[in-house]
Amino acid sequence: MPAFILNGRSVDVDAEPDTPLLWIIREHLKLTGTKFGCGMAQCGACTVHVDGEAVRSCVTAVADVDGRAVTTIEGLSPDGTHPLQRAWIEEQVPQCGYCQSGQIMQAAALLATTPSPSRQEIVDAMDGNICRCGTYAGIIAAIERASREA
Ligand code: FES
Ligand code: FES
Repeated sequence: MPAFILNGRSVDVDAEPDTPLLWIIREHLKLTGTKFGCGMAQCGACTVHVDGEAVRSCVTAVADVDGRAVTTIEGLSPDGTHPLQRAWIEEQVPQCGYCQSGQIMQAAALLATTPSPSRQEIVDAMDGNICRCGTYAGIIAAIERASREA
């Protein structure tokens, strides 16, 4: 039975070891901020952090996070005031919103290692996160704002 830390709390899950982490998060643990998009590691909607690194939870088996620390959008900050969350609001980034949790989690992993990224570093880091509403300019602006204000 895989066990890991989710947003700072220990969780045990009764699931087959090859169950995608995304389904554990959404269906077993009822945290629905993390989204299903493609299921094939090609859109980024399901992005979470595992030990601080951005990973695609749709193609990560729950057994692979056994004993590790997983953070979802719900755990990024205790009260929604992570610099990226504030910047996202200031820049009014979301349209339909579906991709945005994954976008923020991808951006948070970038800023954790590169607090003042260049525009090109932002573009490169966000390259695998698709937004069907085309909010890319807002995403870049919000990451730049967060890096200034963090
Ligand atoms: S749902 Fe995981 S990358 Fe698209
Ligand atoms: S805001 Fe709609 S898919 Fe990105």
